[in-house]
Amino acid sequence: MVEPILKWAGGKRQLLSEITAQFPVAFDRYHEPFIGGGAVFFHLEPDAGSLNDLNDRLTTLYEVIRDRDPEVLIEENRSHEHSEEYYYDARDEFNELHAVADKTDQQRLREASLFVYLNRTCFNGLYRENSSGEFNVPVGRYANPDWVQADRIRALHEVLQDTTIHNEDFEYVREAATAGDLVYFDPPYEPVSTTANFNDYHAEGFGKDDQKRLRDLAVDLDEAGVSVVLSNSPPVAELYEEYDQFEVNVVQATRAINSDADNRGEVAEVLITNVPVDEQRRTTLSSFE
Ligand SMILES: C[S@@+](CC[C@H](N)C(=O)[O-])C[C@H]1O[C@@H](n2cnc3c(N)ncnc32)[C@H](O)[C@@H]1O
Repeated sequence: MVEPILKWAGGKRQLLSEITAQFPVAFDRYHEPFIGGGAVFFHLEPDAGSLNDLNDRLTTLYEVIRDRDPEVLIEENRSHEHSEEYYYDARDEFNELHAVADKTDQQRLREASLFVYLNRTCFNGLYRENSSGEFNVPVGRYANPDWVQADRIRALHEVLQDTTIHNEDFEYVREAATAGDLVYFDPPYEPVSTTANFNDYHAEGFGKDDQKRLRDLAVDLDEAGVSVVLSNSPPVAELYEEYDQFEVNVVQATRAINSDADNRGEVAEVLITNVPVDEQRRTTLSSFE
């Protein structure tokens, strides 16, 4: 089990056991179209499959970890410094690099390394872009942040060897997944209140129409013999009501309920799946108890 390298809003570390309990005992390849910090993917350590995110800084980081010698990235990470001035210079460099069209391998490595550094030293580990797509989170206050992440980078390098990495809309998985595969969807959530701000991952948002597109895709994948597990906020459950092939379960999680990280509370989440109960891991596990 590998721990995530990045802090990421909506990270699923607390719900790992509930989510993976719904996974089928056996499946071929594993796909995660909204990878974010990748808590579930890294926990599972799948042998083969795909991951995807619309955020190209994220997918560049995962490609660099997969394709480069991990010691080279770790060495680059060690070169950063712990000061406010360095942070803002690093943020400028990160945004300038992002604007470069055809990056060299060295520029991609540098962008990946800056991302880990900024994520580990920025305010609350937030990821936020302004309307021009520039990362704009201010510096955080940490006594001893670990922006090197050496062990996790080495472990993840091994896990990613047979993983295809995509940087596009989640619908790519319609082609990527075939019968017998498992897809876990963790999309940006519908806001549960007017102050909730879950759509800040990317300059473009994720609205009701996207949730419907996702539901239609889940229905098509089910018909194609693909196992589907999806986490979401409760209002989305109604989109699945008329589809008997999907089971909806409500679970409780503690997490930040708006952009103020101190404002934490118990929030209901829904887990939606087409995996029959007697094929889920939880059933097999409890039968051994
Ligand atoms: C809830 S987060 C995933 C959190 C992740 N499960 C974790 O544990 O860290 C949702 C992710 O979806 C990405 N995203 C937003 N719209 C997308 C789209 N249309 N297609 C693919 N990814 C998208 C965001 O960039 C974000 O990283």
